[in-house]
Amino acid sequence: MQYGYFDDARREYVITTPRTPLPWINYLGSEAFFTLLSNTAGGYSFYKDARLRRITRYRYNASPLDGEGFRVYIRDGETVWNPGWQPVQTELDRYQCRHGLGYSVLEGAKNGVTATQELLVPNGDDCLLTRLTLRNDSSGTKRLEVFPYIEICLWDTMDDSSNFQRNFSTGEVEVCGAAVYHKTEYRERRDHFAFFWADREPDGFDTAREAFLGVYGSPARPRAVFGGGCTGSIAHGWQPVAAQQHTLLLPPGGSVRLLFGLGYIENPREEKWERPGVVNKTRAEAMMARYADPAAFDAAMDALRARWDGLLSAYQLCSGEEKLDRMVNIWNQYQCMVTFNMSRSASYFESGMGRGMGFRDSCQDLLGFVHMIPERARERILDIAATQFPDGSAYHQYQPLTKKGNLAVGSGFNDDPLWLIAGTDAYLRETGDWSILDERVDFDNDPALARPLLEHLRRSFDYTRTHLGPHGLPLIGRADWNDCLNLNCFSEHPGESFQTTGPSEGPVAESVFIGGMFVQYGRAWVDILRHLALEAEADAAQRDVDAMVQTVLSAGWDGAWFRRAYDAEGRVVGGAACEEGQIFIEPQGMCVMAGIGVETGEAAAALKSVEERLDTKYGIVLLQPAYTRYRLELGEISSYPPGYKENAGIFCHNNPWIVCAEAELGHGDRAFAVYRRTAPAYIEDISDIHRTEPYVYSQMIAGRDAPSFGEAKNSWLTGTAAWTFLSISQAILGVKPELDGLRINPCIPGKCRGFTVTRRWRGATYRIHVDNTAGAEHGVVSLTVDGAAVPGNLIPPAAPGSTVEVEAVMG
Ligand code: BGC
Ligand code: NOJ
Repeated sequence: MQYGYFDDARREYVITTPRTPLPWINYLGSEAFFTLLSNTAGGYSFYKDARLRRITRYRYNASPLDGEGFRVYIRDGETVWNPGWQPVQTELDRYQCRHGLGYSVLEGAKNGVTATQELLVPNGDDCLLTRLTLRNDSSGTKRLEVFPYIEICLWDTMDDSSNFQRNFSTGEVEVCGAAVYHKTEYRERRDHFAFFWADREPDGFDTAREAFLGVYGSPARPRAVFGGGCTGSIAHGWQPVAAQQHTLLLPPGGSVRLLFGLGYIENPREEKWERPGVVNKTRAEAMMARYADPAAFDAAMDALRARWDGLLSAYQLCSGEEKLDRMVNIWNQYQCMVTFNMSRSASYFESGMGRGMGFRDSCQDLLGFVHMIPERARERILDIAATQFPDGSAYHQYQPLTKKGNLAVGSGFNDDPLWLIAGTDAYLRETGDWSILDERVDFDNDPALARPLLEHLRRSFDYTRTHLGPHGLPLIGRADWNDCLNLNCFSEHPGESFQTTGPSEGPVAESVFIGGMFVQYGRAWVDILRHLALEAEADAAQRDVDAMVQTVLSAGWDGAWFRRAYDAEGRVVGGAACEEGQIFIEPQGMCVMAGIGVETGEAAAALKSVEERLDTKYGIVLLQPAYTRYRLELGEISSYPPGYKENAGIFCHNNPWIVCAEAELGHGDRAFAVYRRTAPAYIEDISDIHRTEPYVYSQMIAGRDAPSFGEAKNSWLTGTAAWTFLSISQAILGVKPELDGLRINPCIPGKCRGFTVTRRWRGATYRIHVDNTAGAEHGVVSLTVDGAAVPGNLIPPAAPGSTVEVEAVMG
């Protein structure tokens, strides 16, 4: 069942009922001011940091669901309704929500009035704009009372939702004309404030929640809207809000537009006050003036569209397969940008209070956005590398505001160092900007320890090389990619962290997965060294990689698939002899991607085992059989009920690893079959089962052991975005940037007769036409570049600014 449809021409998903299985959200903003917005206008705004600079309040896990947001109430005689249906939930005559790239448009109609609420965060400005258009389609004059309403958060959302003894006394606002200024803590250490404004004088306002809603009122039945109107309340402590009342008379056929804004302003400390106690509003007034002209909103919308045109133009596909084109050209890339902006901080599943930027997550996210914003990728790599320790290990997380490593979580996640090589390698292949390796970057955020980035990569490689266990496989530490495989934790007390409790430096527990990574990214490291003519070091690294291949093929091989790990007692994890958890997806994907066992047959056998044991109709589950009881020696993985999350859920992130692995073996049919099984556009028609947004990936879909098999959770902020984009753009469509050229090596279903990719790379544009009249699954038999035959399948970089026509014939 569907709850909407894709409008590809406008690059929108159009939701046709407010009763989606879960709130379906969009992200507005891509620089500093961000808004999460649901299809019923629920959501919240923050400036840069979802925890520390929260502008509006949102109650997670509340009932009714999705209670707070950017609400507009319309009172038309006896009827009160919202254009987005929530929170009054008056049945609408017509409803639609269009989620576009960086903007959303909600439209509701009731009793002959149509209300359109368009929301966006303009490029280069710190505000959310809401344009409300009201049209009277009835035959009589309408007198409408319109009430915009937001609930304000007292900045630090963690404190805001816990420290009530203080916070009920600190709230402060100022009202000046059509604007409500939120200035809690501005009297002391904050030099910033937020404000809500309208582009016309309101007929009333409230800034105290209990005045607007009523002490025992609710957003579904605000006293002011259902009763006597706004009271002009000024909040002192308790819960500041911004609410206004606008009385509008609309003749038949008449329409009116109102603009509402929510802005964030920082004042230099010495310019904080206009006079004692009164906020200096100069910058706020300038912001309001920027949008005073009604044309300014349209201009902001045009600029937003132009930005996205530019971003998406770096990779465009024309395949004749509608669902594939819309994933590749629009939604997968869009989601990659959202993961760049948010990391794992703020979604409808991530509260914005928890995690900072993950070292491994951010390195992997890079793989999905480096082609769109290489300059910002460069900066990101340097930020991440600065949180590495001198021995090559790394802080597992860092805070975006301070860019400092997070001490509470610390280090010891032994896959982390190698992801830095993965991210930097992707950047080098994309840009050819070798100067990044010369950039001096702190270790442990300490400028005194700064060394060139190249040295950071070297230490990443060396850390893994020198931290091997009894079998010669890398030690796992607190966890590897699978945060829940905690082989050195042994936690027996509720509430303890599975990752940070216990002897993390366990000298026995080893990871076959990191072994695969060492081969995969160790090869990248060797290529980088050779490019720099560091031949002796490259030869030595190659020997280490070769040795690891042998170790993985011996200690890491179980007979029909790659093992997962060895626990702290040296027992196999992920082998046929295990009671549960006999086979895991991660080492099959990573080891085959790394080319391990491709020539000797293990790779093919491992992928066959995946197909036989882990495949389901909704995707590939992480392991089988699921763990049915808690196992002290394995940790969090066995804490989840069977079928959820890392315990045999369909963890979407590593499905594309299997896509890449299958492509490595030239299996085009299978690679695409795996790709499409979790691709949102392909499963839109089971939205009732899947439940999360049909335009983006979710982290997890419940596996076949779960009662809710097929139900997704944790949409938006997942490494799935980057990896699926990599798998489709580079492994299946086969347009892969390498250090010295663009490799054309498609691996597609035999029945696909060809496609065209337009790829911007290092300043030139490549129009790559792939001809598969032969019906092959892989293999390029001839390649011409601007009409001239080229041997092999590597196109050398063309002059920046040029357009290159490429013809690749498969066979
Ligand atoms: C989740 C993992 C996540 C980890 C972060 C766990 O509860 O299952 O997916 O990586 O928390 O610490
Ligand atoms: C989500 C985490 O953000 C990521 O770092 C981890 O690799 C996966 N969960 C798997 O545990």
